[in-house]
Amino acid sequence: MENFTAYNPTVLHFGKNVIDKLPAHLAGTGQNALLLTGKGSVKKYGYYDQVIEKLKEAGKNIVDFSGIKPNPVIDDAEKAVELARNRHIDFIIALGGGSVIDTAKMVNMAFANNLPVWDIMKRRVEPVKKVPLFVILTLAATGTEMNGAAVLQNHQTQEKIGYFSPLMYPDVSFLNPAYTFTVPKNQTINGIVDLVAHSLEAFFSGGSAPLPDRFVAANIIETFDYAPALLNDLTNYDLRARMLWSATVAENGTTMHGRTTSGDWGTHALAHHISLLWDTPHGQTLSVLFPAWMKANLNKISSRLKQLGKLLTGNSQIKPEDTIRIFEDFFTRIGAPVRFEQLGLSKEDKEKLLNLWLKNKPTGTNVTLDENDYQNIISFL
Ligand code: NZQ
Ligand code: ZN
Repeated sequence: MENFTAYNPTVLHFGKNVIDKLPAHLAGTGQNALLLTGKGSVKKYGYYDQVIEKLKEAGKNIVDFSGIKPNPVIDDAEKAVELARNRHIDFIIALGGGSVIDTAKMVNMAFANNLPVWDIMKRRVEPVKKVPLFVILTLAATGTEMNGAAVLQNHQTQEKIGYFSPLMYPDVSFLNPAYTFTVPKNQTINGIVDLVAHSLEAFFSGGSAPLPDRFVAANIIETFDYAPALLNDLTNYDLRARMLWSATVAENGTTMHGRTTSGDWGTHALAHHISLLWDTPHGQTLSVLFPAWMKANLNKISSRLKQLGKLLTGNSQIKPEDTIRIFEDFFTRIGAPVRFEQLGLSKEDKEKLLNLWLKNKPTGTNVTLDENDYQNIISFL
C-alpha cells in the first residue's frame, strides 16, 4: 500500500427531509446567499421552492443565478462570479446535478480569491481561501457532492478539464433520494454508467490497495444487482437511495486510498473531448469509451482485468477479455450506448475526435497514452 492522507471534510446528510437541517447550518454564514441552479428542473419539480423556504426561515437574502447547462462552461461561471461580486455574497448554495455543483465550486474559488476561473483551472494561479458552499444534490452520478473536484469546458481553447482543490469540498451536502425520483430514465442510465466508470478509474490506478479493490468490486456488484430494477421503477425510494450512495462512495476517496494516484482518469480525459465536440452527456461518452480503452490497453492492464473479474465473479480462471465483456454487456443491458455510431456520430466525426486528442494529448496517471494508443482506441470505438 502507498502512503496516503485520508481527508474528507464534507458533512453529508442523507435521507428523507434532510433539507430541514439547512437553516441550522447557515447560522454565522453571513446574509447573502448566491443560489445556483440549472436549466429549470428544480423549479419544475418543486425542489427550488423548498430550498427558498429554508433560506427565508434562516433570514437570508437570495441572489439567484440560473441556467447552468449540462457540460457546464466557464462563461457561465464567470457571469456568476460577476454577480457574486456585485451583490456581495457571503456564501453559495448549489441546487442541482454535477454541472451546477461544479460551476458553484469554481465560482467559489474565483470569487473568494478574485481570480479568473480559467487561470485557476490551468493552475496558473493558486486559490487560498473560500466562502462556505452548501450543496443540495438532485442527481446521482458524479460524486462531486463529497469531493474537491470540478470539471468545466472552455470552447475558446477547446478543452474540458478537471480541477481539484482541498478548498472545494462542499461544507455540507444534502442528499434526499426522493429529489432524484424525477431524473428521467436516460439520465439515470448516464448516472449509473458514471458511477461504474469512477469505480473503474480508481481500480486502474497504480500500486496495491487490496481493501479499496474490494470496495470497487462491491460497488460495481451492488450496481449490477440494483440498476436494472431501478430503471423499471424510477420512483422506488430504496433503489434510488442505493444508487445515490453508490455514486457518492465511488468518488469520495473510499476507493482510492493507498493507490499511487487517486484514479487513472485517462478514460475520462478522452471522454471529455466527445462532450466538448458534440455536447454528449457525460455518461454516454464513458459507456462508449471504457470498453474501447480496456480493449486497446489489454496488454498493459491484463492482470488487473483478471483480478477485477475474479472479484466480480469469484472465478479465478477468468480471462481479461471476459471482464471487458462483463462491462460491455452490462452497459448494453441497461440501454447505454457502447459504440460511437450509437451516439449519432459518423466516421468523419471519429477523425475530428482523433485530431482533438492529438492536439490536447489526454492521458491517464497510470496507464499513459500516446498517439498510437489514440489510433488504437479509435479503432475499437
Ligand atoms: O439543467 P436542469 O434543468 O437542472 O436539468 C438537469 C440536466 O438536464 C437534469 N436534472 C438534474 N436533476 C434532476 C434533473 N432532471 C429531473 N429531475 C432531477 N432531479 O439532468 C441533466 C444533467 O444534469 P448534470 O448536472 O449535467 O448531470 P451530472 O450530475 O451527471 O453532471 C455531469 C457533469 O459533471 C462532470 C461531468 O463531466 C459533467 O460536466 N463530472 C464531475 C465530476 C466531479 N466534479 O467530481 C466527476 C465526473 O467524472 C464528471 O466529469
Ligand atoms: Zn465521470
